[in-house]
Amino acid sequence: MLLFQIISCPWFLISFLVPCYGSLQLGFSKLQRGHRLDRKLIQSFPELSFLDCVIECLVTPRCKSVNYFKGANFCEINYENKTTAETRYMESAGWVYSEKEHWPKELAGACSNSTCKINQTCKHKRYSEDKFFECVLSDCGIPDQNGIDLNATRREDAIGLHRRIHASCFDGYSQSGSGWLICQSNGEWKYDIVCTGEYGRA
Ligand SMILES: *[C@@H]1O[C@H](CO)[C@@H](O)[C@H](O)[C@H]1NC(C)=O
Ligand SMILES: *[C@@H]1O[C@H](CO)[C@@H](O)[C@H](O)[C@H]1NC(C)=O
Ligand SMILES: *[C@@H]1O[C@H](CO)[C@@H](O)[C@H](O)[C@H]1NC(C)=O
Ligand SMILES: *[C@@H]1O[C@H](CO)[C@@H](O)[C@H](O)[C@H]1NC(C)=O
Repeated sequence: MLLFQIISCPWFLISFLVPCYGSLQLGFSKLQRGHRLDRKLIQSFPELSFLDCVIECLVTPRCKSVNYFKGANFCEINYENKTTAETRYMESAGWVYSEKEHWPKELAGACSNSTCKINQTCKHKRYSEDKFFECVLSDCGIPDQNGIDLNATRREDAIGLHRRIHASCFDGYSQSGSGWLICQSNGEWKYDIVCTGEYGRA
């Protein structure tokens, strides 16, 4: 199985394979099978190998852990881990949970030294030399508008570009709008929800 994973490594990994091998085994040995972290999604990716999923997390500064569904090669990257979001860590058949820090940074290739911002993802420039990468905007951050309760988010909600999350207002606020927050391509949330408090705060 490990050999299969390595064969599916992206091109830029080839030069790292030998030094990586030992710490890759460490990462695989710490997988939490039958678990995932719920409702802390940055982004999800269909048809990604497990190792590419881990790499997606390594090149995304905000990412702290991944959920992977082997049956569909479905990858989810999370902005929390099971320590920071204990109550969202749950049993889930067919899924595998893994923490970013159990994997060697070198897996990110040139991106392991990137200075990308918290709302960006590091992308390799495929046809350039190894050391070249670029930082591209990838999420809208965690919404923090007054009165909005993110407890109403749904399983598929995510903070990545072009994704959306469902929110409601805290008790004591009155709500208008659909309740959807949409992450626009400029990295800004579009709030289709207004929470008006007792004292007229919005
Ligand atoms: C979880 O995230 C926190 C905060 O980023 C970090 O300090 C911690 O090392 C991470 N991993 C574990 C296993 O707690
Ligand atoms: C990252 O930086 C360190 C120290 O500056 C260097 O030793 C290492 O080779 C660099 N890695 C890559 C992939 O550029
Ligand atoms: C969110 O919901 C959980 C359980 O559904 C509850 O324990 C928690 O207090 C809620 N948090 C807030 C901020 O409402
Ligand atoms: C991305 O993060 C940087 C630094 O945190 C911030 O200055 C910038 O406004 C953010 N961009 C967006 C679109 O949120």
